[in-house]
Amino acid sequence: MIKKRNGYELNLMRKSGKIAGMALKKSLDKIKLGVSELEVDKAVEQEIYKLGGDLSYKTVPGYKYATCITVNEQVVHGIPTDREFKDGDVVSVDLAVMYKGWHTDCAWSMLLGKDPEKEKFLQTGQEALKDGIAQAIDGNKIGDISFAIQQKVEKNGYSVVRSLVGHGVGKSLHEEPEIPGYGEKGTGLILKAGMTLAIEVIYAKGKYELVLEKDGWTYSTADKSLGGLFEATVIVGKQNAEVLTHR
Ligand code: MF3
Ligand code: CO
Repeated sequence: MIKKRNGYELNLMRKSGKIAGMALKKSLDKIKLGVSELEVDKAVEQEIYKLGGDLSYKTVPGYKYATCITVNEQVVHGIPTDREFKDGDVVSVDLAVMYKGWHTDCAWSMLLGKDPEKEKFLQTGQEALKDGIAQAIDGNKIGDISFAIQQKVEKNGYSVVRSLVGHGVGKSLHEEPEIPGYGEKGTGLILKAGMTLAIEVIYAKGKYELVLEKDGWTYSTADKSLGGLFEATVIVGKQNAEVLTHR
């Protein structure tokens, strides 16, 4: 059973999402040449606490950070390290907030410096997320979101990761349903207003196969091509999806 939330619950989700969006903005502002991943993670942790939230990732067994940070060929679940950002890095920050027991999840990718090819890659991911979100309306199906994301990514010559997906979010960080970034229009579960979803665009500049790095957490592209990650938590609406995690 996929939960629809009542008005009271949705307001707590909205508050959670506001904190997550502000923390995401904080992290992107902080990412500069010579700054380390751990410094960004600390800034996010402080920001979440300052805003009255808690770290959702604490609920993931064995995980001790506020964020996941991935650089270049890394795609998801990167543990923040003391590595400092360099010119030309594509950096993704993924974070989740818990507020009064309600979780929201979001991610964004950015480029340090200038590079038209990398800019186009990131622009495509942003657009794919927007297209996916536009499908999160009552009566549509999960596959409509998946298809919209896949279309945008593949039309631009990139590939959608298969082994990781978006998800329901709310009382837990990860809930039903799964929301792949690839699939067929008109297939899968019917969306209802009041469902809360973490829509994720997880993609690669080259091939979509991933490898798990030695740290046991970080997934990178097998072909070492760039990875990108864009994610937002939304409420499925009658006419429009409501994005909760605006930066
Ligand atoms: N935010 C990730 C997701 O999108 C989950 C990260 S779990 C962690 O689902 F343990 F790696 F932090
Ligand atoms: Co997620």
